[in-house]
Amino acid sequence: MLLREFIKDKKVAAIAESSPFVVKQVCSEIDFQKTKTILELGSGNGTITKALLKRMHPNARLIAIEQNREFVRALTKIFDPHLTVIQDSAEHMRSILGELHVERCDVVISGIPFSMMKDEVGIQLACDMYDVLSENGICIAYQFRDTICHYLKIAGFKKIKRKIEIINLPPAQIFIAKK
Ligand SMILES: C[S@@+](CC[C@H](N)C(=O)[O-])C[C@H]1O[C@@H](n2cnc3c(N)ncnc32)[C@H](O)[C@@H]1O
Repeated sequence: MLLREFIKDKKVAAIAESSPFVVKQVCSEIDFQKTKTILELGSGNGTITKALLKRMHPNARLIAIEQNREFVRALTKIFDPHLTVIQDSAEHMRSILGELHVERCDVVISGIPFSMMKDEVGIQLACDMYDVLSENGICIAYQFRDTICHYLKIAGFKKIKRKIEIINLPPAQIFIAKK
């Protein structure tokens, strides 16, 4: 499904879903017992979304923002009361959370392609991710390039860790940034 959408929509930025190895690495960074609100940017057709829902605390909530209509259609078929799917751009995350009366998120997960953005857009998105996080919140971004690292530093993230997962198409870098 990603390859088909990628041909039509370059913002999809991947020809295949994240591998189970990337999904596992992303999930391993989250303390699901303490996490009450997760914001996922660029959920695609829900590969990571479903893994998060399986592991989440029963009182936790997941908000998924995805720009592609076909993926949103797939996400809305997940039917989970803990999941809210919004078709929009991550650039509007602050107003979306405001409308949902969500003050802060414990975890922001991002698969959106920072390497394809203009610097000012990438920096603004990194600043918004920082702002929507609670104190001690974490941002986990899986990317094919390391462009985001610079943006995360500008946004004010103090500790940034990088992991590499080679079993993915293409190999992925996973950035874990603490507020
Ligand atoms: C690399 S894919 C990741 C898909 C899926 N989460 C996965 O792990 O397989 C990136 C996703 O981000 C979405 N995306 C790109 N730019 C976006 C933006 N500004 N706002 C929301 N979603 C965006 C694309 O449509 C695509 O679904």
